[in-house]
Parts: sequence; C-alpha cells; structure tokens
Amino acid sequence: MTTPRKIIIDTDPGQDDAVAILLALASPEEIDLLGVVAVAGNVPLPLTEKNSRIICELAGRSDMPVFAGCDAPMKRKLVTAEHVHGKTGLDGPQLPEPTMQLQAQHGVDFIIETLRAEPAGTVTLVPIGPLTNIGVAFRRAPDIIERVQEVVLMGGAYFEVGNITPAAEFNIYVDPEAADIVFKSGAPITVMPLDVTHKALTSAKWISDVKALDTNVGHMVASWTDFFERFDTEKYGSQGAPLHDPCTIAYLIDPGLFQGRFINVEIETTSELTLGMTVADWWGVTDREPNAMFIGSVNDTGFFRLLTERLARL
Ligand code: RIB
Ligand code: CA
Repeated sequence: MTTPRKIIIDTDPGQDDAVAILLALASPEEIDLLGVVAVAGNVPLPLTEKNSRIICELAGRSDMPVFAGCDAPMKRKLVTAEHVHGKTGLDGPQLPEPTMQLQAQHGVDFIIETLRAEPAGTVTLVPIGPLTNIGVAFRRAPDIIERVQEVVLMGGAYFEVGNITPAAEFNIYVDPEAADIVFKSGAPITVMPLDVTHKALTSAKWISDVKALDTNVGHMVASWTDFFERFDTEKYGSQGAPLHDPCTIAYLIDPGLFQGRFINVEIETTSELTLGMTVADWWGVTDREPNAMFIGSVNDTGFFRLLTERLARL
C-alpha cells in the first residue's frame, strides 16, 4: 500500500480541469489533495476561483481549501478561451452557486507556505492552467524549488503543434515568462502536452457509460464533455473531447499508462510568431541539458477505464 502523494492543483476551470479535480478527489489511496489554487486562464480569475469551489462542492468536498492566485500573467495581458469553454468556463450543465468560502490567503502564498512547511520532496505541484502562480512562487521564494517533489503539468505541444496559435498550446502561450521560469527552475518536471492529450479523446460510448452512472457527477461530466468537444471536433475534425488536464492526475495514479522521453524543453518568450512554443528536443539534436519528461503517448483504454471507475465513486 503506497502512501498517497500530497499535491496542490493549480487550475483554470475549464471543463477538463473539472474532470481532473474530480479524479483527484475520487482517488484518496493515491492522492492527498492539500488545496486547489485558481489562476486566470480559460476565463478570468473571479470565475476560475468560483468554478473551483463549485467542482469541490459537486464532489461533496466543501472542506477542500480553495484559493485565488494571480489574476493576470506575469508580464502580459490575459488571453482567455471562452470560445472553447463558454462564458462561465464551465458551460454545459446548469450549475448551482457555490456556498463554500474562498480562502482569504493568496494562492501563491499558500503554495510557498505549504512547500516550506511540508517535508522537502513530499509535495507535487499539478498546474493545469497557465503557469503564472508557479512562476511567481518560484521567483518570490526560490528556496521552495528544491523542496518540490515533482511538477506534473498540462501544457505545451510539439508534434501536435499549437491550439491557440500555430506554434503554441494555450497554457504556455498565456504566460510564457512563467513557463520559462518553471522549465529553467531545475525542479523535476513531467509534461502532458497536446501530443498525448489529443490521444485521450472521449467517445460517445464513454460518455454514455458516464451518463449510465446516473449520478450527479456523471451527468455533469457528460454534459461538460458534450459542450467541450465541439471546439475540437470543428477544429480538428476529431470525434471526442481531448481530456487534457485529467492526464496529469491519471499519471499520478497509474504512471504506467503513459510513455515519454526525458528531453530538453525550452520556451519561446520573444518571437511574436512563435511565442509560447515548447521547443522540445525530442530527437536529441542539440547538446542542451534534458530538463523534462515529455509525454507522447497514453493507453487510452486504460485511461478511460480508470476515469469511469473513479468517477463512479463520487
Ligand atoms: O490547451 C489545453 C489547456 O488549456 C487545458 O488545460 C485547458 O483547460 C486550457 O486551460
Ligand atoms: Ca486547464
């Protein structure tokens, strides 16, 4: 029996963020979720923090500490993605107003204080939105970097190229300076780029299985993925919604579901044409030091089986 991993999820809900948070809350054997920190991303911060509370309450966890982090990227104007997630960020089902309170402490302070308080090497950061909160925390308190067990992030793209520009994936594009800090920090990093998340596509069968759970969570997840898939279907012609963010949590539960390479990944922060690109040296053509486990594939059958089994618990 392994001890559950202590994690902090940094998030911009977002329907796929919601499924990731639910998967974490449904997996106490493997995951000890210390707190949820909202960041501006898919929608502005007042909505991402409210959505974070709605999701925790949906899972019956109104005790989960939810914090608001940064409301804008470190150096740039916020770019949002209502065209993908809808105006609320959680479009699809009708959602109740949250009743649980937002924590008063700033999310970046929570990240710093938790990493200083917990034994070194025992807390994993799971950013599934723009990396602003992590970049600010590392910049403000460099001492916490060596205390991080692992950063498991959803972001970037290489063979799959960009989803917000031809070159860049949304989370990295929104705050490339923060991403640059994280990727140069020296912390152990595992990256779930579009290269793998575009292989974690929902299917009509899976959505009907989730609906057949006939639980509040099941109906919400089915409705969210229904709404969320239309963007990718129109753009890529793919059938199904890519469950980007849940890949991070599934990796923590069962890393054997994923394969990747430990390579050098650097972030474009100057060229307007390729801003936010994750320049991944997949073929080792440079002598740049490897700094990230870049995941390229997933056992999608196993991934969706795990997801259904865990969501059924809520
Ligand atoms: O590009 C996909 C990422 O951007 C996901 O994290 C999604 O929630 C959005 O934040
Ligand atoms: Ca997200």
